[in-house]
Amino acid sequence: MHILVLGSGGREHALAWKLAQSPSCDTLFVAPGNAGSPNRVNLDPLDFPSIASFVREHQIGLVVIGPEGPLVGGIVDYFKEQKDLNFCKLIGPNQTAAQLEGSKVFAKEFMAKYHIPTAPFQAFQRDSLYLGFKAIDAAKPPYVLKADGLAAGKGVLILQNPDDAKRELAIMTNPEKYGAAGKTVLLESFLTGKECSVFALCDGENYVLLPTAKDYKRIAEGDQGPNTGGMGAISPWPEENPEFMNRVTKEILEPVLQGMKAEGNPYTGFLYIGLMVDAAGNPMVIEFNARMGDPETQAVMLRIESDLVPFLEASTRPGGLKDMQLNISSSASAAVVLAAPGYPGHYPKDLVIQLSTEAEKKEAVLFHAGTKQQEQRLLSSGGRVFAAAAKGVNRQEALDKAYSLAKSVAFEGMQYRRDIGYEWQD
Ligand code: AMP
Ligand code: GLY
Repeated sequence: MHILVLGSGGREHALAWKLAQSPSCDTLFVAPGNAGSPNRVNLDPLDFPSIASFVREHQIGLVVIGPEGPLVGGIVDYFKEQKDLNFCKLIGPNQTAAQLEGSKVFAKEFMAKYHIPTAPFQAFQRDSLYLGFKAIDAAKPPYVLKADGLAAGKGVLILQNPDDAKRELAIMTNPEKYGAAGKTVLLESFLTGKECSVFALCDGENYVLLPTAKDYKRIAEGDQGPNTGGMGAISPWPEENPEFMNRVTKEILEPVLQGMKAEGNPYTGFLYIGLMVDAAGNPMVIEFNARMGDPETQAVMLRIESDLVPFLEASTRPGGLKDMQLNISSSASAAVVLAAPGYPGHYPKDLVIQLSTEAEKKEAVLFHAGTKQQEQRLLSSGGRVFAAAAKGVNRQEALDKAYSLAKSVAFEGMQYRRDIGYEWQD
């Protein structure tokens, strides 16, 4: 079978790396990919007609969609409408089900209806701004403001001061300043605890759990500075245990699948559940994503022992995942993001990258993210340039290998956090 992965980041390189190992994979294409991708195809993941033509021409049997944009934009629905493309399976939810990520109001209202634990919220628009100001006055800091729509990781603000919160709310609800993502803005209660990422592959009724992970979102060590797309990840989430996973599935994942089915929008594909876990171990949903996480995928894929392809295929058939068991390694893994100087603010591109020949060691993989090949040179093309990922018998060994791999990469101003996994000492 020929497989196409859509996207260009480290997550997509990790998905491609895993899928290429499948005995059922003949050729693996990545569109548009990066310098690490095996067969790069110069296609925009949002250009559905061109992707459909490529799928026809190359008889692609499976399309795995890395980022949320095409899913929220309706790529699954588009392919379903093309009757001659029913030989091709797309992994992911349809446009309505992808609203779990595409609209925070949709997700919040859905969670309220199905009693899924999450922070209480209120929604405001430009014409109800004064109600938002009143709500801020009535609330306690910190104030959490979230744009309803997709905002490329820039949609959440956490503010200490009520005046700052009001000013930002006014900016976010102004479509001229914030674009369509901000027309509706949520004011949400602040949750405390530890963050954890849970991933499931779903067929509309059943699911298999993928390895859990912990993502490091802030740019600087000690979780300081602005939010980024993610600066590193470890897997498993160190506090994972069967009782906790049982609560996540019973209180969150199963109600999501039952609720979406009851609403006529069965959820298929990857579901990313971003959780805050309080001191008593109660899981609360921070957000849902209709895709895998980046850089969590780079750590998660290293721990999946099963061939992923039969699971992906099964996720496209209602009930297909029933009784399927994904084998997950009992080892640990880690991914350390190597970022351009200035990221997540303005950063230079076209930095010349040097890789030492030591780069690829056993159980360590250098996943490319913002890289491109120009003639004989490897150049940076994004803020997150690589994820140095590794597996080890325990977290410390995985981290040691990932950091040792990171040292084999050099470009001007390269920055990375040296404290991934720091809260937990073996
Ligand atoms: P999101 O894009 O919704 O994942 O939010 C980005 C980050 O903001 C999360 O990973 C959390 O660190 C933080 N965050 C979001 N919502 C809350 C909340 N209600 N309470 C505390 N932190 C939050
Ligand atoms: N690492 C966070 C995300 O992919 O949304």
